Amino acid sequence: MTKPTADQVQNLFRPQLESVPLARHWARQLVADGWGLPDGLAGDVELVVAELTSNAVRHAPHSRATMARGFLVVLAREARGGVRVEVHDAGDERPRVRTPGDDQERGRGLCIVEALTHTWGTSPRLPFGKIVWALLGDPAA
Ligand SMILES: Nc1ncnc2c1ncn2[C@@H]1O[C@H](COP(=O)(O)OP(=O)(O)OP(=O)(O)O)[C@@H](O)[C@H]1O
Ligand SMILES: [Mg+2]
Repeated sequence: MTKPTADQVQNLFRPQLESVPLARHWARQLVADGWGLPDGLAGDVELVVAELTSNAVRHAPHSRATMARGFLVVLAREARGGVRVEVHDAGDERPRVRTPGDDQERGRGLCIVEALTHTWGTSPRLPFGKIVWALLGDPAA
């Protein structure tokens, strides 16, 4: 018998853009194969992880000692088939949803996160930095 996958799993990634595909593939596989949740939900989690991890790489500083080794992604299986995504980074600046014009390439990531999640937000992280979290797939949320 195979060992059941834990309800909460975390992974530390190097603070570089090459980590984004690693994080999203890991997330998809965990949700679909590890937890056996629907492929559609696994695909949504994959997209949210891609946007939040690329933000952690691009917008948060990586010079502070404790996060110099990377950013942390936590995935948790919630009640009723929901999934919680957390990305911990070292920056105190909070994400801001933008309203990009037609000619602007950037500023759409959090719009995608908003569209795919029931709710998302940020929490402080000690001793500094923040956690950007998002909840997906919970029908009661
Ligand atoms: N982890 C973060 N730390 C600090 N600031 C952030 C973080 N994530 C997002 N932001 C801020 O919120 C803004 C909006 O993020 P969003 O992902 O929507 O757009 P973007 O990253 O600028 O572009 P895109 O995701 O379309 O490539 C960013 O431009 C940045 O100023
Ligand atoms: Mg972004």
